[in-house]
Amino acid sequence: MSDWLGLGGQRVLVAGAGGIGSALAEAFAEAGARVVVADVNPAGLASLDPRVHPLEVDLSTTAGCDHAIARAAAELGGLDVLVHAVGVNHRVPILDTSDADWDRMITVNLTSAFRLGRAAGKLMVAAGYGRQVYCSSVSSLLAHPDHGPYAASKGGLNQLIRVMAREWAADGVTVNAVAPGYVETDLTRGHLDKPGVREHYTSLIPAGRLGTTGDLTGPALFLASRQAAFVTGHVLYVDGGRTLV
Ligand SMILES: NC(=O)c1ccc[n+]([C@@H]2O[C@H](COP(=O)([O-])OP(=O)(O)OC[C@H]3O[C@@H](n4cnc5c(N)ncnc54)[C@H](O)[C@@H]3O)[C@@H](O)[C@H]2O)c1
Repeated sequence: MSDWLGLGGQRVLVAGAGGIGSALAEAFAEAGARVVVADVNPAGLASLDPRVHPLEVDLSTTAGCDHAIARAAAELGGLDVLVHAVGVNHRVPILDTSDADWDRMITVNLTSAFRLGRAAGKLMVAAGYGRQVYCSSVSSLLAHPDHGPYAASKGGLNQLIRVMAREWAADGVTVNAVAPGYVETDLTRGHLDKPGVREHYTSLIPAGRLGTTGDLTGPALFLASRQAAFVTGHVLYVDGGRTLV
């Protein structure tokens, strides 16, 4: 297979072994990269592609994030690519949102991005090369009801990556995001299975269908590659046109 993206031998940490993280990890492995996947859930890690190295760690703490970066760098002999694909969502109106809900979504979705990005950024800036790709969301832009903390975490993420991108641009480190629309994974399945919900969301998407995890792999691998050397600070909406309407 030709390695047009130049991902062969790249040292990759994917944070998150869920639907999107596991699909991306498999695509990186398929492209010849060496991959560590970090997640708090042992069941998710157990079902990963066998070419991928699993790392069980809670990424809701500074110690957990620092440990994940250090362990991945030790296992791989350095770190070229960080992919952030952890996330949680609890859909409730703002008036019913508890402090605990707020804290959990901001910590897992946004603070872990800051902590992992910072720890990986130290290695990448020192090495003079790095690619960071984060999973934002169409919720970073649209005001979906019942998405207060989730939308705030993704809007914050969009701005965080822009500042990281600017600070590290002269050091060969790019920072970008992919922003999916609805993709059926453990994060969304329960909601999509409610009566009429899947049909309603599908009707809002100009492409006429929900996304798949496979829709994310091309855009994410491109942003993680040497081919994207002059692309930084972008949020690439991978949403079948959802944010156009
Ligand atoms: N699925 C979608 O429709 C969709 C749409 C837009 C954005 N996203 C974003 O894409 C990313 C991946 O989502 P997904 O659909 O694969 O979800 P998922 O639920 O399948 O996977 C999320 C993973 O994060 C892990 N995780 C949660 N808390 C953690 C913690 N404290 N430490 C370590 N790991 C933890 C979970 O164990 C799970 O494996 C998330 O950031 C999500 O917000 C998803």
